[in-house]
Formats: sequence, structure tokens, C-alpha cells
Amino acid sequence: MNKPFTNTSFKAYKAKGEKITMLTAYDYTSAHLVETAGVDTILVGDSLGMVVLGYDDTLKVTMDDMISHTAAVRRGAPNTFIVADMPYLSYHIDIKESVRNAGDLITKGGANAVKVEGGAWVVDTVKAIINAQIPVVAHLGLTPQSVNALGGFKVQGKGEEAAKQLIEDAKALEAAGASALVLECIPPNLAKAVSAAIGIPTIGIGAGVDCDGQVLVFHDMLGIYDKMSPKFVKRYVDARTPMLTGLQNYIDEVKSSTFPAAEHTFKPLDVDLEKLY
Ligand code: KIV
Repeated sequence: MNKPFTNTSFKAYKAKGEKITMLTAYDYTSAHLVETAGVDTILVGDSLGMVVLGYDDTLKVTMDDMISHTAAVRRGAPNTFIVADMPYLSYHIDIKESVRNAGDLITKGGANAVKVEGGAWVVDTVKAIINAQIPVVAHLGLTPQSVNALGGFKVQGKGEEAAKQLIEDAKALEAAGASALVLECIPPNLAKAVSAAIGIPTIGIGAGVDCDGQVLVFHDMLGIYDKMSPKFVKRYVDARTPMLTGLQNYIDEVKSSTFPAAEHTFKPLDVDLEKLY
């Protein structure tokens, strides 16, 4: 049996050149599937706002949502290192409140680490959370909580200035003590340069093959979320088609009284029921 993945594994995997696998999960069943498949780490992403709750972006996700989904994921994946996203506004107002919110994801949700989006502006918050003994994963590039400021879900780090800024932010987050860095939607050569410039692993999504690990959203990679399909998503299986077939078969069988069959039905009562009504 492999040694369990812990916070110290992030750097150890990078040092030995072993890629880190991360997948999102949001509930007991998805978490149990992902743990059974053998993923290194689970991210309870605030993408749950889109793929589970049906919002157009992640901004309406609350701390209560994140705690409840993280706790469900912990029940489904008791042996996997879980990173929980800090939702929009849970770490933007003041540092004390940010540490309390991060702590709630650990104590009430059962996460092992939290993830925050942002560069230099979030460094003091990252330090304070780490001082409370909570590991932090950072997130640069397309940071979905900034969708309004960025003008949409677009590739980031284009051009020399933006690339320089991203590398500086990555170094600042490493210096602040972040355990790993998610890089979302940036050019692959920039992700490669960031990965070479820092000692903590980069975990890419839409950032090319040279990151130290990869993350995908559960519903995207199984082909069951069809509202948006970014270029970087690989559908490993089209689970939507067999799921729809199963659902339609159920509807047909209920309509035609072929479900439930005898094997799905309990033994009849040995009583003359007609005399009871
Ligand atoms: O919320 C999420 O799922 C994420 C990943 C896209 C990295 O932050």
C-alpha cells in the first residue's frame, strides 16, 4: 500500500518528479469514487457553485455551502488529503475573519488544507492562516472569483508584463509558505517557467503538461456538465449518455408497469385484504 498523501508530500512529489493528481469532489458519492480510483488529493472546489448548484459563476458560494460539502466529501473519502476552497469574500475582509473561516473548513468540514485565489494582495492572509497551522494551496492565473474584474473567463498571463507579475506572485506565495500553487488557464510555457522558478509544486488546469500535477473538475472529466466545456477539459468518459439511457429506461418501465418486477418487490402479505376496505 502507498504511503498516504500529506501536506509534506507536495514538495516530496516535486522533488522526486512524481506528478500530483487532484480531482474535485463535492459530495459523499463523488468523493468515494475519486478515493477508490486512487487520486492523490481531492479539491472541494467552489466550482460546486456552477456544477452542483447551477450558478453562472462561483461568487454566490458561501462558507456554509463549503463546510457542508467538505464534510460530505470527508465522509466519502476518509483517507484522502482534502483541500477546501475558501469562497468569495471569506478571506477578503479582514485577516482574523479569514483565519476563522479557514479554521471552520478544517474543524467543521474535515479538510486538511484550504485554497485561496490571488497574488501579492493575499500574501499576509496566507501567512496568518499558515500561522494557525493550516496548510494553504494558492491559485493564480484565471482566478474565477475575479471573473468580473478580469472581464470573463479568459486565458491569463498573456504578454511579458503579465507573465512577470505572475512569476513574482508565485514566488511571493511560496515565500509566504503556500504548500502548492494551482495555475489555471495560462500559456504552457509560462506554467513551465513558474514551475521551474519555485520549489513548491504547480498543479495545472489549462496550463499545459509541464506543471507538477494536474486538476480537473469531476463533472467535466466525466462529461456530465454540459453548460460550459473549456478547451482544457478532457472528457475521459461520456457518462452523460449511459446515465440518460438509464433514466429514460426507468421512465419507460414505470409507464409500462414493467418496473418494479418480482425481484424488486417484497413478499405479499398472507391476509385477505379485500375484507379490510
Ligand atoms: O473550484 C475549483 O474547482 C477550482 C479548480 C478549477 C482549480 O478552483
